[in-house]
Amino acid sequence: MKISQGIKEKAEILLAQLTLDEKIGMIHGDGLFRTKPVERLGIPALHMSDGPMGVRAEFRNDAWIPSGGTEDYVTYLPSNSAIAATWNRELAYECGNVLGEEARGRGKDVILAPGINIKRSPLNGRNFEYMSEDPYLTAEQCVPFIRGIQKHDVAACVKHFAVNSQETQRLWVDTEVSERALREIYLPAFEAAVNRSDSYSVMGAYNLVRGEHCCESRFLLNEILRKEWGYEGTVISDWGAVHQTKEAAAGGLDLEMSVTNNFDEYYLAQPLKKAVEDGEVEEEAVNEKVRHLLWLMLTLNMLDVDTEKKTVLPAKRKTGCYNIPEHRKVTLRTARESIVLLKNQGQCLPLKQEKLKRLLVIGQNGNRIHSDGGGSAEIKALYEISPLMGLMSRLGGNCQVKFVKGYYEDEGKGNGKNWQEDSLKDGGGKERESIRISEEIAGRRRALLEEAVKYAKEYDRVIFIGGLNHEYDLEGQDRTDMKLPYGQDEVIEAVLEANPDTVIVMVAGSPVEMGRWEKKAKAIVWNWYAGMESGNALAEVLLGEVNPSGKLPESFPYSHKDCSAHCVGDFAEERLLHYREGIYVGYRYYEKNNVPVQYCFGHGLSYSTFAYSDMSIVRQEMAGELEITVSCCIRNAGGCAGKETVQLYVKDKNGTVDKPVKELRGYRKVELAAGESQRVSMRLSKRDFAYYDEGMGAFRVESGEYEIVLGASLLDERLRDTVRV
Ligand code: BGC
Repeated sequence: MKISQGIKEKAEILLAQLTLDEKIGMIHGDGLFRTKPVERLGIPALHMSDGPMGVRAEFRNDAWIPSGGTEDYVTYLPSNSAIAATWNRELAYECGNVLGEEARGRGKDVILAPGINIKRSPLNGRNFEYMSEDPYLTAEQCVPFIRGIQKHDVAACVKHFAVNSQETQRLWVDTEVSERALREIYLPAFEAAVNRSDSYSVMGAYNLVRGEHCCESRFLLNEILRKEWGYEGTVISDWGAVHQTKEAAAGGLDLEMSVTNNFDEYYLAQPLKKAVEDGEVEEEAVNEKVRHLLWLMLTLNMLDVDTEKKTVLPAKRKTGCYNIPEHRKVTLRTARESIVLLKNQGQCLPLKQEKLKRLLVIGQNGNRIHSDGGGSAEIKALYEISPLMGLMSRLGGNCQVKFVKGYYEDEGKGNGKNWQEDSLKDGGGKERESIRISEEIAGRRRALLEEAVKYAKEYDRVIFIGGLNHEYDLEGQDRTDMKLPYGQDEVIEAVLEANPDTVIVMVAGSPVEMGRWEKKAKAIVWNWYAGMESGNALAEVLLGEVNPSGKLPESFPYSHKDCSAHCVGDFAEERLLHYREGIYVGYRYYEKNNVPVQYCFGHGLSYSTFAYSDMSIVRQEMAGELEITVSCCIRNAGGCAGKETVQLYVKDKNGTVDKPVKELRGYRKVELAAGESQRVSMRLSKRDFAYYDEGMGAFRVESGEYEIVLGASLLDERLRDTVRV
């Protein structure tokens, strides 16, 4: 991200007029989500808000007490996992566009999104806020998302930089990660965010990398972000992620934010002023931060400068708006494309609407909303359509829809107090505590199971809707395993026994173990936290009004024990974490080591089938730059219109360097009417064949033969051909 000369000159004019006190006021929180204005000169405060799924509710400036008004209900957007599962760059742009316009409409300058950390383990409590285990998919989906946000004179704040892959001990966990894994897995999406989409701000993470806290890290902020990537945007700390004055002053961080209201005591507040006055920190270090903030404000049209008179001028800034019908339509279109049909034996789905007279819905997630939970991603949704409401409103009065809970959600209810106030205690995060199931709870569970089985026998069609919720997909807490909570496995098994055609729907932000019942189920549908229209989208898919087209943006292992973060590297508990698996994260590990998974990366079925044919590779060299165009023909060979995502993987055929079996390097989603064909093409450059050579300290391509694989998922390879690079 580069700043124009004009903006830089204007910023210098203002900087020269600021006192040390005024400068200090601009570089730390003077409220939970804002800085201090300089009224004397007309420099406004910078207003920030979470988060990825919509603009968060208003809090009091100095306490985590919601303002309680009616003005902060907003559009609830699909989570980043859902956006990634669409494999649709345009929808990512549209969602960013909604978020940016609503943030501006709510008077915000910076929206603390998107979260783009790599999903190293399925147990990370914040996975629902992140996109994928794959850096390419994350980069491709976050770049348009950020562009959409920033169209509205609002800054994206891409987070959490970097290598922030667990919640347990999140303030103190120190990651030992190889240079190669850093460059190939953990950094590419951030690099794309700042260089391809010009993210105006970046949030430094809570954790440490190689012994330095991310917000004070000379390695991450000064060397990589500022020097190597030439980043001229603003770096904002995560809330409470700064721990020392001098280190933060010397580093690439610009703005310290935190969760407590002792604003003057923040490290970059009075302690920094004193350090400057005592000659321990150069005032120029403060100037550099203020400069970045002024650049940001000028870029966002928060103000302008009369260069003659050297005074602040009002700028013409976009106004934004929120809760408009167009925004809700975007959430619906995105939710539709995010739903992943995992299994559909014997065309169990879609349900035949005309024949449906009595439908039984079992499971708490059928009748639940999720927008108000999860941590800082929580929002006050204008509304949220539950699956039950989506189904009932579609089926109308002629179909009798009965709902039973099926299982009892007994565990870990919060105490009603805002968690964020205490969020930095005890290392800032923990593993979920295991719950003892009392006799009373066991009894309630039994009763609900028996009720579900009784009705499942009576009803012709049954849908089980379970999974997780934000007691499990939650900031500040990791899961201890992938097991379904609340005894759902028993319920699903019993219900499938009673009614073998039962459709299983999982609503969750991260994978769950399905081993006990997966083989017995004929149809399984995956539904992420998919925004305010989620229930409508799900109903449309179940009833065949929409043909599912989502694909998994992450592998679904049988158990977390199969995942490399757990069986090779460290996860949770330890303060010093070794990412011993290196680059073998997600499918890179499973495929290389022949570890079978429940559902592979990129998997997702349709009610239609797609035939791949006629692959071609055209290799060109233009001005010394290699450009390879790969194309193939896709035909909708099924009986209904649908969308298919063609995935392109690169495989090194006989290289000497240790590499994953193959890696995602391209994808295209196409919409085809029944019987229609289309030619799909994707472009590759030299970098798509590169690996990071630690000895050279650079990306390098081994010359030789590479196989290009086109497929419907990682393991569903359809076409392949070889190219020499
Ligand atoms: C989270 C950030 C969030 C911030 C402000 C922190 O707890 O890690 O993602 O933006 O709070 O709410």
